[in-house]
This record gives sequence, structure tokens and C-alpha cells, in this order.
Amino acid sequence: MYIDLRSDTVTQPTQGMLNAMLNAKVGDDVFGEDETVVTLEQKCANLFGKEAGLFCPSGTMSNQIAIKILSHSPGEMICERFAHVYNYEGGGASFNSGISAKLIKGNRGRISAQQLLENINPDDVHFPKTQLLCIENTCNKGGGSYYHLEEIKEMARVCHEYGLHMHLDGARIFNALTETEESPSEWGNCFDTLSVCLSKGLGAPVGSVLLSNKEFIKKARRIRKVLGGGMRQAGHLAAAGIYALENNVIRLKEDHRLAKQLGNALEQTKWVEKVWPVETNIVVYSLKKEIHLQKHLQLLASKNIKAIAFGPQEVRMVTHLNVNEEMIRNVCKIISDLPY
Ligand SMILES: Cc1ncc(COP(=O)(O)O)c(C=O)c1O
Repeated sequence: MYIDLRSDTVTQPTQGMLNAMLNAKVGDDVFGEDETVVTLEQKCANLFGKEAGLFCPSGTMSNQIAIKILSHSPGEMICERFAHVYNYEGGGASFNSGISAKLIKGNRGRISAQQLLENINPDDVHFPKTQLLCIENTCNKGGGSYYHLEEIKEMARVCHEYGLHMHLDGARIFNALTETEESPSEWGNCFDTLSVCLSKGLGAPVGSVLLSNKEFIKKARRIRKVLGGGMRQAGHLAAAGIYALENNVIRLKEDHRLAKQLGNALEQTKWVEKVWPVETNIVVYSLKKEIHLQKHLQLLASKNIKAIAFGPQEVRMVTHLNVNEEMIRNVCKIISDLPY
């Protein structure tokens, strides 16, 4: 059996989660009649101090809906150059919303209020109007790096002053909050919209919740319908999300601890050039130039470890719900014994 470290999206639902899904009370959510979906949306909204939530099939859809309701063509969004909303959503911001992106070179996926300020376009017809800032936390391409609330508050002040909306791609927001122990509602207070994923570290099979005020969520519901994301008896899926919030947030600490163990083991090898600082559940390392990336991944696979390419010489490993201490101990042993 493989130890699958490619992503925290590969998890299988646990028996407890499956039971919750089976026993969910459901109805037609497009008619607003699925009480489990309503419960999930309200639970998430309450946690982040927002008025309302919208259950979406994916993080991509909830990000794209947010961009759609917070911008209008021909505007511009600002994001870090490696942001998921720009790089990995199939060009959705231009396709769905007709806007361009101003990409900022950040520090492992994070940008500063000063950089934001320097990248807001002047009020001049030559430039697209800057309308929106998208922040990702944790930053996937930054190797699980995270922001502190103070940095976000500073950016929120700039956005407020210049009339920009602010969206959080919180695919892994709970990983970040696990480390900082900051309050979700203070985070919620800084953003117009937040997308919170249930299907990454939290281990649900499907789903993200978009959070905002009632007015924006009303608009978002309409856009979700247009995109084909209105689901019927979605309560079975929402039940997994509720279960995940109640049971799997607390255990993220364990993923982070195991990720650090993995990082330490990698640091001790001769064939690793550099291990990026391990901040949450994502471990990224670059290989020495004489090591061939694809052959390295094949070698790991031949020893039943799945990892993923993350750059020309970079590899990513992610800890998650289906990875335990014993597995990571095995992986560390295999890593230290690789025949290089
Ligand atoms: C940072 C980030 N945002 C958004 C998404 C999109 O989520 P989904 O795969 O549910 O569309 C991902 C997916 O891995 C992600 O890593």
C-alpha cells in the first residue's frame, strides 16, 4: 500500500464521517430546503463572524464566485504571483469575470501592505481599475507558509482607503490558525469574502464554504447557480463538512508535527539541496542538481511513497488525515536509506 504524500486532498473519509453523511437529513438545497447544508453554512459563518455562507462544490468555485461578485470587467485583481486563484483555476478570473491580474513577487507566497500599496493602479484611463485583493492562507506554493493577523489588518486598512475589496482563499486557513492561534472572527472581519475548504486538511470528500454578508451571499448564490453549482440533496456532503469542522480541525497540529519530522529527516540527507522552512503540513525540498527529479519520484514510488513535483528540482510532500506517526517514521527511514 502506498503512503500518499502528494496532497492533503487525497484523504479517504473516515468511518465516523461516513456515518454522519449517511445519517444526514437532506432536502432540495436549490429550494433552500436542505437543513444540513443550512447548518453547515451557518456554523462556518458564525465561526468567522460573517452573516452568511454558501456551500460550494469546490474551492475553485467558491474563489471564482467571490472574484465575480467583488469585481467587474475591465478591472484588475492583485494577488501574489503564485496564487492559486491566478495559476491553478484555469484562467477563471478572466473567463468568468473579465478582469486582469497584477501579480506581486512575494515572500513564499506572502505579500506586504507596502507592496499592495505600490501596485494599486492610479485613477487613469490607461490602467485597469484595481478592484480586488486576493490573499491565500496558508500559501500552497509558498510551501504552507502563513500570514499573521497584523499583516492582514494592515492590508485591510490599505484596501479600505483605496476602495478595494478583499478575498481570502482559505483553502488551508485552519492550518494557519492552528499555528497562530488567532481568532477566526478577527480574520473574518478583515475580508469581504472568505473561502474555507473542507476537502483539504479537514478530510471531507467535497466542498468549500464561501462566507460574507447576506447581500454578497445572495449574489453568490445566483452565480453558483449560473456555474452549475446548485446542488440538490447536498446535505450528505455538508454532513461530512460539519463532521470535519467538529473533529478534524483539532488534529491539524498532528499533521504539522509529522511534517516537521519529515523535514528534519530530509535535512539530514546528502542528496537534498534545501528543505524549505516547514510551517504547517506542507514539506518542500529541492534536490541537488545531479539528482534527476522524475527518477527520484519513481524511486520513491518503487518504495511505496507518493510525492509530487513542485518545481524543476523541487518535491512536495504533504501530511494529512490518512498519514500517521508510524507511516512517517517509515518514510523517514526510507529517505535516509535511499541509495544515492
Ligand atoms: C490554495 C488553494 N486554493 C484553492 C484550491 C482549490 O480547491 P478545489 O480543488 O476544491 O477546487 C486549492 C486546491 O488544492 C488550493 O490549494
